[in-house]
Amino acid sequence: MCGIVGMVGDRDAVPVLIEGLKRLEYRGYDSAGLAVLHENDVALRRAVGRLSALESELAAHPLSGSIGIGHTRWATHGEASVRNCHPHAAAEGRLALVHNGIIENYQELKKDLTAKGILFSSDTDTEVLAATIADCQQDGADLLEALRCALSKARGAYALGLLSLDAPETLYAARLGSPLIVGKGSSGYFIASDVPAILPQVDEVIYLEDGEIARLTPAGVEIWNLAGEAQVLKWVKVEMEESAVDAGGFETFMLKEIHEQTRVLRGLMERYVMDGQIVLPELNMSVGHIRTLQRMMIVSCGTAYYAAMYGRLLIENYTSIAVETDLGSEFRYRSPKIQPGTLVATVSQSGETADTLASVQMAKGAGCPILTICNVFGSSLVRESDHLIYTHAGPEIGVASTKAFTAQLMCFVFLTLYLAEARGELTAETREELLAELQRIPTAIHRVLENKEHIRKIAEQHHDGPSSLYLGRRYNYPMALEGALKNKEISYQHAEGYAAGEMKHGPIALINESLPVICICTETEDEVAEKMISNVREVQARSGRIIAIATEGDTRLDDITEDIIFVPRICECMSPLVNVVALQLLAYYAAQARGTDIDKPRNLAKSVTVE
Ligand code: M6R
Repeated sequence: MCGIVGMVGDRDAVPVLIEGLKRLEYRGYDSAGLAVLHENDVALRRAVGRLSALESELAAHPLSGSIGIGHTRWATHGEASVRNCHPHAAAEGRLALVHNGIIENYQELKKDLTAKGILFSSDTDTEVLAATIADCQQDGADLLEALRCALSKARGAYALGLLSLDAPETLYAARLGSPLIVGKGSSGYFIASDVPAILPQVDEVIYLEDGEIARLTPAGVEIWNLAGEAQVLKWVKVEMEESAVDAGGFETFMLKEIHEQTRVLRGLMERYVMDGQIVLPELNMSVGHIRTLQRMMIVSCGTAYYAAMYGRLLIENYTSIAVETDLGSEFRYRSPKIQPGTLVATVSQSGETADTLASVQMAKGAGCPILTICNVFGSSLVRESDHLIYTHAGPEIGVASTKAFTAQLMCFVFLTLYLAEARGELTAETREELLAELQRIPTAIHRVLENKEHIRKIAEQHHDGPSSLYLGRRYNYPMALEGALKNKEISYQHAEGYAAGEMKHGPIALINESLPVICICTETEDEVAEKMISNVREVQARSGRIIAIATEGDTRLDDITEDIIFVPRICECMSPLVNVVALQLLAYYAAQARGTDIDKPRNLAKSVTVE
């Protein structure tokens, strides 16, 4: 969702802001803008659409200045239009504000300000916050005091950057519930929504805490909490390599990230498996605690929710812990019966998903310990958690999650083995079998990647219809959901994932000769394997266009369909890690055939930081 970048330094901020905004594009946006202190003025340039529109605006009306803020906006309050673009000005154009988050009481604040005669030119909550800061300044407060005063009136979430003619050498930043970092480098000080945005500029960063306000000047950085108490600066060295945030010769970030999965999963095993034992350094959970666990609730959203469904199946299969899963957006608005002591786990690539975060805060309030599986260090979910497993997938830039997802699945395998071992519920034999199977996953994924031309041809044959259906059972049911989600997200073709056994209860009515039905049939051994083949035959009997994912050497589908994607044989409980790669490629090539913007699909944001 909205991205923020800002700079105070010794060179022109405009190219730095534009580059930063380009690096934030992946978060999703529909308009963009920037403001710089230019010739004793706060000058704004804003445009709807891609950043190229803002660049054209800048080419037509050039700007320069060494202090500036920039923003990519994903519309929430008010349509995507120039007047709703950030930055928003107040105090007769003397200050400009960029903001990520939602000011929930903006209507109330707006009413009070309107009564004082203040006029608004946008529909946004951000302009109201800018006007509130200006209003607080009217009482003679300096800008820092005015900002603190305005934030004390605002309810909701924010990450913000503020500049003003009244503090011409200064950039202010603040966060509450939305991510923001401060960075330093040889050419100045910076703010940004994430590290990749300012990676070329900075050597060290500070992850702002909720309720902190930062002041950046050419001389340095100061930070206070909302009560005005100075905070110790916690600079962290930036370890990220530039190659982690470029497409590395691939046509899209998504394709690069699909290919990175072998390396990411190998890296995870090197990190978390030592001498045949699972070692989870950030889990920080005693054996005594693990042995008392009876219930676990896993809360997450989107793709991460499907990882949670997979995790539940694994944990329930190998331990005696009862596991439930829920979507963050549902969990937080029902009355879940979570006893103090229930382990509440979250899974998240970004660590910033608003509904997951709110669910965690609710569970903490109920006295539950929190375990988070996350890809982003220092993110909000990480800070709220007692127990952690990092997915170490590296920055994921493609909006459609791929490598972060398979890393989440693998972390669930580690967690399951760790819990089962600590509870005395895992035999040495099972542990060795599962670990041996795990070691085979990267090579199996590599084989799927080698088969991508075949997958592309299948995708090209079936991409044109209005809809498709994905079927799977047990461990591969969440993969059917994920395959359908990937397809929807990037190819814009309606797709539905279903538990194959549920097909007779409704979706079978959809099947005809034009409906592609993607069937995950890699189970070969037990009754689920047989049932799945029966389901495929039911589709065949109704002339559905069957695309099967099957195990190499399996001949059961030979008389059913020619469109088979064979994958290496992997035990059923780990087969999703391999099968989903075939589904990612299938969605990818369908999207390519349909000509969509794969890395930046319409309407989507990479991290959903508002409800
Ligand atoms: O950052 P998170 O993992 O918490 O994000 C959750 C979902 O928004 C995310 O998985 C979304 O569904 C992806 N675009 C899926 O590709």
